[in-house]
Amino acid sequence: MSIWRVQGGYPLEGSVTIQGAKNAVLPVLAACILTDGEIELTNVPVLRDVEASLEILRRLGCTAERQGDVVTLDCRQVTGSAIPGELAGQMRSSVIFLGALLARCGQARLALPGGCALGPRPVDLHLAAMEALGAHTQIADGELLCWADGLAGGVIPLEKPSVGATENAMIAACGAKGASVITGAAQEPEIVHLQGFLRALGADMDGAGTSVITVRGFKPVRRVGWRIMPDRIAAATVLCACACAGGDVEVRGLEPAHVAAVTRPLEDMGARLESGTGRVRIRCARRLRGGQTLITAPYPGFPTDAQPLLMAAALKAEGVTTFVETIFSDRFRQGAEMARLGADVRVAGRVASVTGVERLCGAPVLAEDLRGGASLIIAGLGAEGQTDVTDPGHVARGYERLDETLSALGAHIAIT
Ligand code: UD1
Repeated sequence: MSIWRVQGGYPLEGSVTIQGAKNAVLPVLAACILTDGEIELTNVPVLRDVEASLEILRRLGCTAERQGDVVTLDCRQVTGSAIPGELAGQMRSSVIFLGALLARCGQARLALPGGCALGPRPVDLHLAAMEALGAHTQIADGELLCWADGLAGGVIPLEKPSVGATENAMIAACGAKGASVITGAAQEPEIVHLQGFLRALGADMDGAGTSVITVRGFKPVRRVGWRIMPDRIAAATVLCACACAGGDVEVRGLEPAHVAAVTRPLEDMGARLESGTGRVRIRCARRLRGGQTLITAPYPGFPTDAQPLLMAAALKAEGVTTFVETIFSDRFRQGAEMARLGADVRVAGRVASVTGVERLCGAPVLAEDLRGGASLIIAGLGAEGQTDVTDPGHVARGYERLDETLSALGAHIAIT
């Protein structure tokens, strides 16, 4: 349990380089099991979910060592195919190991993670994808079992563009005999990144970034080096922090196109945005204006992970900003906490309306999930006085030294 103590009212100034992407490194770590070789990953952020994944790999028999942002993995020996409850529980997306274990070991057993702070997170699409490759699946006693007597390539139709199910299907298809075609695939940049890594590992595949991905075969490469892409949601966090607190900030080391669905609404709110190669600058000198309706959608739409962050930016914007959450059923919990700061946030089912107030006042609040927690820290930066964000550990799942990043920009923030 930690408390983020934020003294608000200081505009942010300066530049930051963005960390490696959590949602890109997790599927890459799982995919490492596909090869019986050695892999060196760079720009690997130090995050709770990443360390949990490395621990899972060690339990499965691999060696995994970290030196700074470099992680070296040796996956020549995979001696287990089960992920026990205490590890699966630590990282909600442990299901991402399913396809890789099935491809490498012909079986997988994972403890199902419990209920989630964002609403139910079913795994039916993951299972349907494995079944499309000839695997058998079963859920019993809180565990997910999958086995196959050799995976066979085929068509994998995804009913919804699930990011995790697309990644699992891509990885499992690398272990299948014959070609596979994934239809209805998610198109997030992290999927394109995973395709790049799988190709480096020896996959013959294309289509990532469109709704149809084809995997033709896999000839494992024994030594692979790979750099993890920058984190677009961490970048969005800094941009929204500046929008909430005011100031002039340059975010470096990111792909501007990946945050376009966040910079566009910020610009419409009156922030001044300027993009160049690998950088985005935001300037907010005066009160922003609301009035937009932001509807979460799969990429390239407005990302659900940025919804709480943009909400923080809208708390003081003049007028009413409306958020419609289409991806997760329970993702407005930060709204009630923001109200403790004096914000006017009204939630009705999947819709939240934010009427901008002139000032926010610091108060104690509770982080109930990762991005919601970050949004409260941002809101605290835009509030007068002290905001204490009590955090059972959610923020460290996805941000590397967020306190230092924001302090370097002039924020008054400390963790106790
Ligand atoms: C990933 C991201 C997460 C982001 C989310 C949506 C990672 C590690 N996490 O999560 O940060 O918020 O994408 O952009 O990359 N669904 C089903 N059945 C399934 C799987 C998903 O119905 O088997 C539903 C989910 O409940 C949700 C929607 O599909 O409504 C999208 O979820 P999905 O894209 O799978 O999210 P994750 O991959 O878990």
